[in-house]
Amino acid sequence: MVLRPRVVINVAQSLNGMIAGTSGRRVNISSNEDLIRVHYLRAGMDAILVGANTVINDDPKLLVDRNLVRADRQPVRIVMDRKLKTPVDARILDGSGKTVIYTSRNTGNLENAEIRVRSETQLKIENILSELYDSGIRNLMVEGGKEVILEFVEAGCVDEFYLFIGNVLIEEGGLRLFNPQTEIKDIIIDVRPMERGVLISLDPHYLVRSWK
Ligand SMILES: NC(=O)c1ccc[n+]([C@@H]2O[C@H](COP(=O)([O-])OP(=O)(O)OC[C@H]3O[C@@H](n4cnc5c(N)ncnc54)[C@H](OP(=O)(O)O)[C@@H]3O)[C@@H](O)[C@H]2O)c1
Repeated sequence: MVLRPRVVINVAQSLNGMIAGTSGRRVNISSNEDLIRVHYLRAGMDAILVGANTVINDDPKLLVDRNLVRADRQPVRIVMDRKLKTPVDARILDGSGKTVIYTSRNTGNLENAEIRVRSETQLKIENILSELYDSGIRNLMVEGGKEVILEFVEAGCVDEFYLFIGNVLIEEGGLRLFNPQTEIKDIIIDVRPMERGVLISLDPHYLVRSWK
């Protein structure tokens, strides 16, 4: 049996199912209460993983905000970046925490990041997870975007899936997480009303089966 970290997916979408605006424009969907929940989740993680487009469009710091929750240490920030397109001035490269970038490009250097060059096979989610487990990562939070989340779902490597649905609408043409053509039933395992939205827990196993 191949060991892997526990994988928690967290994502926020609008009432009409979008996780970003047109051309990937970042939209603020979370409420203050949700933000505290997300940082509390982060504080319990060994690492947080995102795709390169999320770094480019959102420029997240991916750290625990100590003004919001207590944290003794910061999670490792991991970026899946096949073509090594992370901007040199990205906030994850500000040196305030450890950053690891998985890429297939063996040229290029980025300050304040450990670049791990891997083959296409090694970049498969199952293999990355196994490598992360071997390096001591036991809890991994995946914070987007769509492409990366779908890879985890399709690989069947998701243990918890949190979806915050915010009290906002995003214009049609934005980025949709779920394919509305896909028929998925009975996947909600918990619902919690929150400030300016609702937090839904989805059954990752059922989700995987329904997606295929
Ligand atoms: N609402 C939310 O909660 C939330 C959270 C995060 C992000 N977002 C939104 O999501 C959007 C980005 O989503 P997205 O689907 O466009 O992109 P994404 O998932 O953030 O990133 C995709 C990128 O990751 C690379 N990648 C994917 N799998 C890889 C692998 N196994 N190994 C190496 N590289 C890999 C891809 O490389 P290749 O192109 O070379 O294949 C591509 O460049 C942003 O606009 C952001 O605003 C929303």
